[in-house]
Amino acid sequence: MDTNKRPDSMERITTVQLAQDFIQEQVAALQAQIGDKKVLLALSGGVDSSVVAALLIKAVGKQLVCVHVNHGLMRKGESEQVIEVFGKELDANLIYVDASDRFLDLLSGVSDPEQKRKIIGNEFIQVFNEEAGKLCGISFLAQGTIYPDIIESNGVKAHHNVGGLPEDMQFELVEPLKLLYKDEVRLVGDVLGLPHNMVYRQPFPGPGLGVRCLGAITRDRLNALREADAILREEFDNSGLSAHVWQYFVAVPDFRSVGVKDGKRYEGWPAIIRAVNTVDAMTATVEEIPYSLLHKITDRITAEVDGINRVLYDLTPKPIGTIEWE
Ligand code: XMP
Repeated sequence: MDTNKRPDSMERITTVQLAQDFIQEQVAALQAQIGDKKVLLALSGGVDSSVVAALLIKAVGKQLVCVHVNHGLMRKGESEQVIEVFGKELDANLIYVDASDRFLDLLSGVSDPEQKRKIIGNEFIQVFNEEAGKLCGISFLAQGTIYPDIIESNGVKAHHNVGGLPEDMQFELVEPLKLLYKDEVRLVGDVLGLPHNMVYRQPFPGPGLGVRCLGAITRDRLNALREADAILREEFDNSGLSAHVWQYFVAVPDFRSVGVKDGKRYEGWPAIIRAVNTVDAMTATVEEIPYSLLHKITDRITAEVDGINRVLYDLTPKPIGTIEWE
């Protein structure tokens, strides 16, 4: 039997009861597979790895070792949330690695987008390997593979994912979500008690803000991007738009324009807002945002974020524009 094929008879998980049944079955299967051995998981804080973590914590508790690598390209508050939810609330065995300086030093002066992605992917593997090497007695590697990853293994996600993990690792794989679609993963995460904003969060590229801090990344521009993005997310939450818009974010290009602040010439970067709706990320339409909200976001970003002096709204559908800027 092909264990990577979802059986036709498998019911779509659409209710709390079905999610509970799935969790119960998986917990038993994971306990049988893992026994008293240890499992390692790279926990990014994204939906898939978070749900795998919660499921494994329920099944084997502290036999799960989660490693969260902060590559310095996370959105505001994301690593903190991983520590809060998994380290504190779920009392997981969590290793937090702040590798920001390593990544940002390597990325310094690199402007080519593919080169940036490669550096981030390779360094992620390097850091994760170093942490794995420090641990003893790990037998299993858990992964947040979901069914679309299997179906589209030559598609967008495989190409985009941060590196993937090294093939020479001597671990048996644990992939409890590999037959589930995204909506099912979210429901299971919800029923496992993960925070709503973690389970329903928008897609976020593996290389994180690295692909939105356009051109060669600098720490000051990256910070400006992170703060502007946090304001955008807060305003979308407050206005209810976050429930209707599939993906929204800020990109900050590597040039400045002139402006005026407090009566003086003020050179700053523009913050470019992108907000799109899509079904499969292959095509996308631009969301109509009320002008009053755009004005509010503009006022806040230009007043609160050091280094930004203009706000632009990207009206380009996909195609012709891709969703990300690089
Ligand atoms: P594009 O920019 O190709 O993006 O229209 C389509 C979807 O893929 C996401 N994306 C990435 N995801 N690593 C990822 O894991 C990446 O390098 C990457 N680049 C784009 C993008 O955010 C959108 O949801």
